[in-house]
Amino acid sequence: MRAIKTAALVAALVAGVNTGVLAQDATYRKDIKPLFDAKCAACHGAGSPTLADFLVDQKKYAAVMKGPRMDTYADMIQLVGWPDTGAVMRRLDDGKSAGAGGKPGNMYPFLGTTEAERQKNLQTFKSWVGTDAWVLNRLKARGEVPGIGKEQLEKIQVKY
Ligand code: HEC
Repeated sequence: MRAIKTAALVAALVAGVNTGVLAQDATYRKDIKPLFDAKCAACHGAGSPTLADFLVDQKKYAAVMKGPRMDTYADMIQLVGWPDTGAVMRRLDDGKSAGAGGKPGNMYPFLGTTEAERQKNLQTFKSWVGTDAWVLNRLKARGEVPGIGKEQLEKIQVKY
């Protein structure tokens, strides 16, 4: 029993060291906003359309390098939970999650200039969303991928 506890503790510590941020620590204000400002704001900042406006004419905005606005907590969580369920996960994934087929999302390169930096920042996003909540499912099924379930949605953390 004791040995099991120690092993679990060591595993937790190692995981903590590897990921930099423990799941319960990651918050929007402390971890995500600074990362967003450094890596995403140029194309998703105040000069970008809201998600609703973006969806009206995606092609027009994409042509001028504007993605949906995500510079506030309220704007960003729309691309985690609803209505654009899983968008942040699909775009930032490194290709290793179930359903990604080994192909990283097209925003993954923006997470850093080196693979080490990208991995570190991906872990920060995962910790914030919730490690168990990091799935690529959409709200509704598409192709082979089933729509997200309520149990899965309940795992989303996104602490402010
Ligand atoms: C150089 C500009 C640029 C940077 C930097 C950038 N993005 Fe994007 N992003 C775009 C554009 C343009 C689109 C819309 C075209 C597309 O869907 O690929 C987009 C789309 C997205 C979408 C999908 C939106 C939707 O409604 O489906 C997400 C999520 C996203 N970006 C997240 C991020 C995050 C998080 C970062 C920072 C790590 C980031 N992006 C950095 C230009 C950028």
